[in-house]
Amino acid sequence: MTESYSSLINAILKHTSKPPLYEPGEPRFWDDPHISKGMLEAHLNPDNDAASRKHASIDREVEHLVTAGFIKPGDRVLDLGCGPGLYSNRLASRGVKVTGIDISERSLNYAIAQSKEKGLDTEFCRVNFFDLDYQNEFDVVIQTHGELNTFRDDSRDELFAILHRALKPGGLLIFDVTTRNTRMKHGEKNDWYASEGGFWRPGKHLVLTQGYDYPEDNVWLDQYIIIDSDNVKVYNNWFHDYDLETIRQVLRKAGFEVVQAWNDLAGTPYEEGGDWIALVGKVI
Ligand SMILES: C[S@@+](CC[C@H](N)C(=O)[O-])C[C@H]1O[C@@H](n2cnc3c(N)ncnc32)[C@H](O)[C@@H]1O
Repeated sequence: MTESYSSLINAILKHTSKPPLYEPGEPRFWDDPHISKGMLEAHLNPDNDAASRKHASIDREVEHLVTAGFIKPGDRVLDLGCGPGLYSNRLASRGVKVTGIDISERSLNYAIAQSKEKGLDTEFCRVNFFDLDYQNEFDVVIQTHGELNTFRDDSRDELFAILHRALKPGGLLIFDVTTRNTRMKHGEKNDWYASEGGFWRPGKHLVLTQGYDYPEDNVWLDQYIIIDSDNVKVYNNWFHDYDLETIRQVLRKAGFEVVQAWNDLAGTPYEEGGDWIALVGKVI
């Protein structure tokens, strides 16, 4: 066995066992110059729920949040992880004053171009959630498509504290999270494929995918090992799922009272056993 072959195989074989809970992988995912290209394409695919919801579902969600009075024209709304602005710009076109924030420059550029083209006054900023420093500024914060599932508990609590400060007294935090049902439906992804260039890398690469369950913590890991001619890199996508009671407790500890729960942001009446829970938490 040559030295370079053995070091390649060892780099892969390091990943044969279940990683410790929340072990980080590659730090750049959303704002990776190549991955963000495929991600933007996925966001903009109107018929696919992968990165953003199907666009007809987004229309229904925005319609519901506005007609039910949770978001009103003139409200100041922070869209946390706005991506290409699919919610921000829809809300802005209804007279809502929206600030969309995200770390993906590529998605933000699209959001800004759309806002200009439609003559909207949506504000967009490139900033990490954890660097936000707003005090008493917003009537509503929205976070859509399960971004909150991706944080370890201490980061999630830190983010809730940042959002509590950013909201005005009585302000609303509106978001959705997945339940364990979603995870059980998708099941373990144990597979691989070869690509000439695609989502993960522009040139030839192999993708090895493995799912790991941490049932005692209600956490799931989708691990992607990407092998190309330069490197072996590992992306760990963590998901902490919730049920209504566990998320209610987390919100209560962070100073929010749950004033509404549905199975999605389009207002489907809440029933236990759904794939998603959508919530409105009010600053106490
Ligand atoms: C699942 S996507 C949802 C996008 C959008 N909310 C939607 O539903 O169309 C999550 C978004 O959060 C952004 N994001 C992830 N982590 C972030 C962080 N720490 N700070 C700012 N944005 C972040 C990503 O770039 C991505 O656009």
